[in-house]
Amino acid sequence: MLYPASKLPALGTTIFTRMSQLAAEHEAINLSQGFPDFDGPQLLRERVAHYIGQGANQYAPMTGTPQLRQAIAAKVARCYGAEVCAEQEITITCGATEALFAAISAVVRSGDEVILFDPCYDSYQPAIELNGGVTIRLPLLLPDFSIDWSALRGAIGPRTRMIIVNTPHNPTGAVLSDEDLQQLSVLLQGTNILLLGDEVYEHIVFDGLLHQSLLRFPELAERAFVVSSFGKTYHTTGWKVGYCIAPPAMSAELRKVHQYLTFSISTPMQLALADYLQAEPEHDQQLPAFYQQKRDLFNSLLADSRFSFSASAGTYFQLVDYSAISERSDIDFCHWLTTQAGVAAIPLSPFCEQPLEAKLIRLCFAKNTDTLQDAAQRLCQI
Ligand SMILES: Cc1ncc(COP(=O)(O)O)c(C=O)c1O
Repeated sequence: MLYPASKLPALGTTIFTRMSQLAAEHEAINLSQGFPDFDGPQLLRERVAHYIGQGANQYAPMTGTPQLRQAIAAKVARCYGAEVCAEQEITITCGATEALFAAISAVVRSGDEVILFDPCYDSYQPAIELNGGVTIRLPLLLPDFSIDWSALRGAIGPRTRMIIVNTPHNPTGAVLSDEDLQQLSVLLQGTNILLLGDEVYEHIVFDGLLHQSLLRFPELAERAFVVSSFGKTYHTTGWKVGYCIAPPAMSAELRKVHQYLTFSISTPMQLALADYLQAEPEHDQQLPAFYQQKRDLFNSLLADSRFSFSASAGTYFQLVDYSAISERSDIDFCHWLTTQAGVAAIPLSPFCEQPLEAKLIRLCFAKNTDTLQDAAQRLCQI
């Protein structure tokens, strides 16, 4: 049997899976893959159990339950002043991952160029390549991983179909400002370039910063797929429920892909999320303080270590520089850290096309105090 050549020859298993596996094998504290070691809100979990018990166990509508889509419309009106139509503009997806894949598949054709910022989340490029698209990766500028606007202006051309914008940014924790989005608006004026906004950490921003959703800017929202994930906001990454907001014409195309990718998303989860969004809307507002306390605790515990860092502006990740500790590559260092020091972290190079000048790794602080203390103790001994 001759199997066909791989469509993604350069791709192996994601770094998240590999590091989590290594952490389990060596019983290391897992600060690699981004998931909390605590549970989501009790009411939310009770509502899921309630709906399963009540028999809400058959297919949900293809676009999502009306209750959840309406709750999301109310949320984005409250948070971003955006009026979106629950019926035509919101689609519930299997996590943000499916929304990203469906959005890219819906609009990227063979030979289209999609601009990404380097480093970036690892699911974008394979989705673009599977659809015959070409990625143009523009390095973010150190030290704060800001966008190089003149490089972006230079990269835009007749084949540019889409730009992917991730704020708050995984893996760096950088957060785009109001001025950034104004710059983007000016740059896109008069073009037909689409945007894909990955905003899964929309409620995890620190030090009084505001999350600048594309939905706040009508001239950007009219060309944008905006993607978010309940996994990040409600500490339920294992449920894989997310959504995509886009203008009706763009949503219609996204739904054509979604209906054959997953068709619809878990009914009891959607009904429970809709109830919870209505019952405890303050959860989202309290999330910045909740995670800022964890960031500050973790960083204060790391103050005595040989790692150097500046505090993350958003997400539940902290980048740390290990150049005072080791000359190894980031992949080797993370392997060593997991197997020898008992703490698993994520190297940055799998998120990059261009090698980074700095020696940086990513640590996840979405963990209980005990976990953070134990991890920091180990990291301070290196
Ligand atoms: C930037 C970013 N986008 C998308 C996702 C995927 O989200 P989900 O688990 O909802 O599919 C993640 C998860 O880590 C992420 O960090």
